[in-house]
Amino acid sequence: MRAIQITQAGAPEVLQVCERPRPEAGPGEVLIRVLAAGVNRPDVLQRLGHYAPPPGASDLPGLEVAGEIVGGDLAASPFRQGELVCALVQGGGYAEYCVAPIGQCLPIPAGLTPVEAASLPETYFTVWSNVFGRAGLAAGETLLVQGGSSGIGVTAIQLARARGHRVFATAGSDEKCRACEAMGAEKAINYKTEDFAAVVKAATGGKGVDVVLDMVAGDYLAREISCLADDGRIVVIALLGGAKAQIDAGQILRRRLTITGSTLRPRPVAFKAAIAAELRQHAWPLLASGAVQPVIHATFPLEQAAAAHALMESSTHIGKIILTVA
Ligand SMILES: NC(=O)c1ccc[n+]([C@@H]2O[C@H](COP(=O)([O-])OP(=O)(O)OC[C@H]3O[C@@H](n4cnc5c(N)ncnc54)[C@H](OP(=O)(O)O)[C@@H]3O)[C@@H](O)[C@H]2O)c1
Repeated sequence: MRAIQITQAGAPEVLQVCERPRPEAGPGEVLIRVLAAGVNRPDVLQRLGHYAPPPGASDLPGLEVAGEIVGGDLAASPFRQGELVCALVQGGGYAEYCVAPIGQCLPIPAGLTPVEAASLPETYFTVWSNVFGRAGLAAGETLLVQGGSSGIGVTAIQLARARGHRVFATAGSDEKCRACEAMGAEKAINYKTEDFAAVVKAATGGKGVDVVLDMVAGDYLAREISCLADDGRIVVIALLGGAKAQIDAGQILRRRLTITGSTLRPRPVAFKAAIAAELRQHAWPLLASGAVQPVIHATFPLEQAAAAHALMESSTHIGKIILTVA
């Protein structure tokens, strides 16, 4: 099969077309003929040599696909041969064929194309498990999404809004801010020209938000604490602004704050399968009804994976970038 491999750590050009044997599905897995594969920032980190695949995972990049089930452990699968699914995978998505654990496959939501479906798994699994799982965003609570125009951000804004929450977001341009507001953010803050903590605090009548979804960390943490409500939770999913932070720990104990975080990829299949079941129950109906929608910024043929990565690293995109497989 044709695939995209990372020939060495480096610039987007290290992504090159290669020929690889078709992967073989083991027990509890299906083989998918890939129609489309999502591009995610963790793929960029992997390409740069900062995010090694977990033991046993494919060295090929790609954490989510949509396509047709063509084989594997069909006896153990609720999906049939020929059925279209989307799946969260351990790696290997940038290829014509990819193996997926059955529990990490979901049907393509009604009315969506394979390209749209390929944009869903990585961000929906991540947002669901962190915002509604770890941080426990509860009815009536407010959410601040850092990086609101990212793939993760557009999912977090829409899901939280569709579930009735007030949502605030940050982004690096006025155009991105307007897009976040069109997707349901009550107010999006251009962090280059405005102080997000002051804006959020004022908009919540001085109370602050209950949950922050943070992909920046670094010096954002102290500012997030300053606009977090009592009993508030910050969930860190990336360190785009750096790993080191100086915070006032007194705030944590006086105001009962929680700072937590997680990475999805190394978690066991059973954990991801449990998220898939929750998504199918709570998020897939919202996708089928159009209450939340895939946001596709651009598609590239598989062979142009390098151009897709260059676009992602330009950070000019709003939403998701997808590779299509002929
Ligand atoms: N923990 C997990 O399980 C998990 C899972 C998936 C993804 N992630 C992480 O979540 C983040 C978003 O992923 P994604 O695929 O949605 O990425 P993405 O679409 O490329 O979005 C990243 C956005 O972050 C903003 N940003 C803020 N500070 C930045 C900085 N210092 N450098 C570069 N960009 C910066 C940029 O928008 P502005 O122009 O608005 O700044 C950029 O568009 C990534 O860091 C990824 O590694 C974590």
